[in-house]
Amino acid sequence: MDYKLLAEKAIKAKSNSLPTYSKFFVGAALLTEDDKIYTGSNIESSSYSLTICAERTAIFKAISEGERKFKAMAVAGDTNDFISPCGACRQVISDLCGEIDIILVNKKGETKVTKTSELLPFAFGDKDLQ
Ligand code: THU
Repeated sequence: MDYKLLAEKAIKAKSNSLPTYSKFFVGAALLTEDDKIYTGSNIESSSYSLTICAERTAIFKAISEGERKFKAMAVAGDTNDFISPCGACRQVISDLCGEIDIILVNKKGETKVTKTSELLPFAFGDKDLQ
């Protein structure tokens, strides 16, 4: 699977963002092991801390549909620089997606490929709960 398509899906998902308070639009597209794509956008609440990021929307949609194995996720922001997933999303990506490629997309549509362990080195996880 070409990451260009995944990046395009993330950019498209950004248009469904509901950033009522921050006005900061984010879209994500998560690629499963068998090449299905689940998209997500950030959705904000008037009780600000209940807001959910685009990455976690996509992950929870996929998990709730029975998906368990993932290969990559694209995250698109309207930023000049490449968007950087927040700490909470990094933990959830690490826990639920494992070591995947993460494609960061800026507002020009340029991409930078990173991976879970680069975004969250020395991660807490299942192994620590044995
Ligand atoms: N946000 C995301 O959806 N993903 C990120 O990687 C960074 C931040 C959202 C949360 C909130 O709705 C808005 O962007 C501003 O923080």
